[in-house]
Parts: sequence; C-alpha cells; structure tokens
Amino acid sequence: MKCFRPHGVNGDTMELTVSASENINGTLILPLFEGSENVPEKCQNGMSSSMKNQINRVLSSGDFKAKKKSTMTLYGGEDGKAILVGLGKSDDCTIHDYRNAGATVTAAIKKSHGNEMTVRFDGAGISHMAAFAEGMMLRDYSYDEYKKNEDEEETEVSIRINCSEKEEEELVGQVNILKGICKGVHLSRDLGNCPPNDMYPEVFADMARDWAKDFDNVDVTIINYDEAIKAGMGGLVAVGKGSSRKPCMVIFEMNKDVKGKCPVLVGKGITFDTGGISLKPGANMDEMKYDMGGSATVFGTMEALAQTGYDGKVVGITCMAENMPAANATRPGDVIKGLSGKTIEILNTDAEGRLVLSDGLWKAAEYNPEYIIDFATLTGACVVALGHEATGLWSNNDEFRTRIHEAGNAVGELAWPMPLLPAFEKEMTDSKIADTRNLGAGRWGGANTAAAFLKQFVPNYDYDKDGEQIMWAHMDIAGTFWGAKSNLMVKNGATGVHVRTIYHLIANS
Ligand code: BES
Ligand code: ZN
Ligand code: ZN
Repeated sequence: MKCFRPHGVNGDTMELTVSASENINGTLILPLFEGSENVPEKCQNGMSSSMKNQINRVLSSGDFKAKKKSTMTLYGGEDGKAILVGLGKSDDCTIHDYRNAGATVTAAIKKSHGNEMTVRFDGAGISHMAAFAEGMMLRDYSYDEYKKNEDEEETEVSIRINCSEKEEEELVGQVNILKGICKGVHLSRDLGNCPPNDMYPEVFADMARDWAKDFDNVDVTIINYDEAIKAGMGGLVAVGKGSSRKPCMVIFEMNKDVKGKCPVLVGKGITFDTGGISLKPGANMDEMKYDMGGSATVFGTMEALAQTGYDGKVVGITCMAENMPAANATRPGDVIKGLSGKTIEILNTDAEGRLVLSDGLWKAAEYNPEYIIDFATLTGACVVALGHEATGLWSNNDEFRTRIHEAGNAVGELAWPMPLLPAFEKEMTDSKIADTRNLGAGRWGGANTAAAFLKQFVPNYDYDKDGEQIMWAHMDIAGTFWGAKSNLMVKNGATGVHVRTIYHLIANS
C-alpha cells in the first residue's frame, strides 16, 4: 500500500509563515494591479534600487501589465529575483482573484527561484492576503507517490508573507486555519489519485482507523462485509459482492459526546466502477478510480475539521465498494431490499452509487442529524448538464440549498441549484415489481432522476413514520472531482472539491 501520506507530509513542498519583518528574504513575490506604473510605496522597504528600477522599467514600459493570472520573473543578479503577479484591475479585484494569483505563483515557481521567498502586498486586507496564501498552498500539490525516487531529496521552499505588525496576529490565525483546511483538501486528492489496485474498501477503512488514532476527539467505526449483510445493508452488499475486495461502511464521529443535533455527511465510495454486469465501454474507464470522490470529500472534510480543532459534533458515513462483474455479481433484473426496508429493482448495475448511498442515507438518521449532505460522482448526466465548472446541487429545502450554494461561492467552489421535481420521483418509484427502480424510464434528466431516487431513502427525523423528512442536500461531483482544466487550484488529477465549502458551511455558520 503506497498511496497514503500521513497528514502533515502531504504532497506539498512549501512552508508558509507570516512575518512583520521589513527584510526581503530570497525571491520577492509582488502581486500588482493593472495600471501600476512603479513599485508601490508600501512594498519598497528593504528593496535594492537596482531591483526597484528594473521593476519600474517593466511596469512603465507596459512589458508587464498585471493582468489576472499573469506572472513575470525578473533576474536581478546579486539583488535576487522577483516574481511579479497580476491581480487585474484594482476596482474589481476580489478575494477569488487573490486566491487565483497565489495559485498562479505556485505554478510558476521553479528551482531557479531558490528556496526562500517573501510576498509583499500593496495594502491588501487581511483576508485577501490570507486568500493569496491559501491559493499558494492549495496549488502546492502533486501526486508522485508512484514516481518518487527515494534517493532524491525534495527541496522545501519557505515562503514568508509580509504584513504590518498590527495585522500579524490576525493573519497568522487565518493562515493557520487555512493550513489545516488545505491538509483536508490534499488528503481528499491523495485518496482520489491513488490507483484502484491500492485503494479499495478495506484500505480506505484501515486508513480512516489509523488516521483517527491521532485525534482524541474522533472515533472511526467500520462495518465490515459480514456485519453489513447481518445489518441488512442490501444496497451496499449488492454493489460490492461481485468483487474480491469486499464492501464496507466507514463511520467517522467527531466530538460525539457533544449534545444535540449535528451535520451528517454521506459519501459514495466506489473505489472502482466497471459498471458491473452492465459493463462500461473501455474508453477512459481508468477514470472510474475517482468514483470514490464522495467518500474522499467526507474524509478530507473530517481532516480539515480535526486539523483546525473544530469542537462541534459532526458525523461522516462513507459507503465503500468496488463495482465488478463476476459470477456472483448483481444482475440487471435483481430486486434487493436495503436498510430502509424498501425494495429496489436493479435495471442497470452501473447505476450503483445510488444503491450504496440508499443505505448510507438511511443509516444517517441514527446520528441525530441537523441535516444530511451526500457527495457522489453519481452521474455522467450531471457532467453533460454542467460540464466541469459546477457541482450539481439538489435539496428538499430551498433555503438550505441556497446556504450551500453561498458557502461554495464564498470559497470559489461552484455548486449549481438543480430541480428535485415530483415527476422525477414518480419516474423512480414506478417499478412494476418493486417499490423503486434504480434507472429512469428514459435517458433524459439522468442527474435529476438519480437525485429523486436518493430522496426516497432520506429518513424522517427519528425515523418517525409520520414525521418530517430530514433536511438533506445532494451534491453530484461527477464533473468537479477531477478533470476541471479551469480549476487553477490543481494541476491535474483529483481536485478535493467541496472540502472547503463544507468546512465553511459547518465551521463558519
Ligand atoms: N460513476 C458513474 C458516473 C460517472 C460517469 C461519473 C462518468 C463521472 C463520469 C455512475 O456510477 C454511472 O455509471 N452512472 C450511470 C447511470 C446510468 C446507468 C443511469 C451514467 O451516468 O451513465
Ligand atoms: Zn456506475
Ligand atoms: Zn459510479
């Protein structure tokens, strides 16, 4: 098992600190607005006149226009180097532009820039400076576990963020929290990027158990295959039984002794999705190693909360299985019954995510949820609808859906509202021989019918038959968990999307 890097050692090479010192250590990183004609007054402290002249020359000549996402390196001989980075026009420059600029700098850093750098801002607010640091850290990731030459030492780069003495304490606080959150994002990416021969349900479970040993306030419970059968988790079992890597459910409980209701996060964790007997075509099937992205989001969010010392109660439930064709695999036509007691006619074994989630969602009500959010690389149809630019977002509560949408906007992770319509529910409960069917009647609206299916398995509060359904949202990350070329925070592979959204939703509201 090679794929796991314990937290703190993730694929990053940067050590970021905040300092009110006036010196420029190593290479200067200088974020600039469009239209700057010379080095801003505030940034000139400790700068040699030759460096200043050189920067002034490229600015006044228009050689560097400071457009968004642009960088330029200046080589100042003995006076060191500088990386200029564009923020765009000052009047429409948002916190997202600062985060993007930070990520752009990380992408531009080369060995020749040395291993010490200092960032100087021209009067940016504290949260803007923090966002720049966040972008730098998020982009500082590569998955090279299977490439690494053990003898080759990785060079550590130390980055110093300059600020005033007045700002120092608050900026240190914000950056420390962001460091913890980035660890969660990087963990989610590690889990997603790990090849499927090394990442299967039992490995995920072992990792969760090992990880929890480092935190007094987290408990991990594993429901193994035999226990899942005994418990009646028919959905999880139906999907995972055809694989020699048997399925399991992994439950994370943080601060479980805290009284009252809590968020419950549920993740689809298909460590490889061949489609099962309804076998997928061969092209790009390798990408189905990312089909555990929902479970990675849950685990990564737990890491972010744990690293930042969150003291509220939160529960995560991950439904882990490998979907394989086999002599003993589930067939199209089979009818199964899961935890909810409702029967499901399986018409396509490739619509497996909803089956494992049906048990995860039903289980969630045992943990006294304030709300449930599930994460899943659920449908190709969602990618057709939204491309790689936004996650599909459904909810049985309009206000809650808006809250999640806004939490995503706040951190630059788009989650787009999608409709949960009665007609779709009717379609998914219209089986001739069972309570529900796992496939829509036609091929249209496939992301919506999938969401409508899931809703059938969201319990009422306290499982009260006559009660109210638990507030719930579903996030289809099929297009956003990997493959988003426009996502500046990541070079390639898994994105770790929505760890930051959900951290923000839980910790800041
Ligand atoms: N894991 C896939 C969804 C998926 C496909 C995610 C492509 C990302 C990229 C899911 O299990 C699946 O196969 N869904 C089917 C559902 C269909 C059979 C109703 C799909 O989307 O085709
Ligand atoms: Zn599938
Ligand atoms: Zn799948």
